[in-house]
Amino acid sequence: MPVRISQLLYPRLTVLITTCDARGRPNVATFSFVMPVSFEPKYVAFSVAPDRHTFSNLREVPEFVVNVPTFDMLARVWLCGRRSGRDVDKFKLAGLTPVPSVRVRPPRVGECPVQLECVVELAREFGDHWLVVGRVVEEHVERVDFEPLLHHTSRRFIRPGAAVEAE
Ligand SMILES: Cc1cc2nc3c(=O)[nH]c(=O)nc-3n(C[C@H](O)[C@H](O)[C@H](O)COP(=O)(O)O)c2cc1C
Repeated sequence: MPVRISQLLYPRLTVLITTCDARGRPNVATFSFVMPVSFEPKYVAFSVAPDRHTFSNLREVPEFVVNVPTFDMLARVWLCGRRSGRDVDKFKLAGLTPVPSVRVRPPRVGECPVQLECVVELAREFGDHWLVVGRVVEEHVERVDFEPLLHHTSRRFIRPGAAVEAE
């Protein structure tokens, strides 16, 4: 059986992406196919399967927030990646606090120390996912000295180790 790409390229930063529909109803979901694209201006990309409620929301409102959770939020992040916002209010279910954004319609996740408000500039299909590239239009950085949550594949995550400086 072929090895999945997530087992080949890891660990990956795990984030909570918030979106909303045309009526403003918010959703939060877990993503680890995520990467920074540009320093200045800041751009972020992530990959979303078209059956996600997040994808439907992006079609209605092409804006999102990248919320970076701490390692100890694992249980809540897992839940947001197992249930769909089509069926349930995951903010309520996971006990996450929606905080109004400054420049975009989807709310931020109050518990996350980093929140990047983004506007979609490109969405293109590649294989079984869509690549979404967003320009960061507002950033909220409460702190950067936290343990991030790193994903391997499926239910396996990786605890960050000690930082090492190259010679
Ligand atoms: C750790 C983790 C990482 C995930 N990464 C992605 C991803 O990068 N892209 C994606 O489309 N789905 C990813 N998922 C699956 C979605 O989070 C899942 O399908 C979720 O139910 C989608 O929610 P929504 O329907 O409310 O958008 C991931 C799930 C977990 C648990």
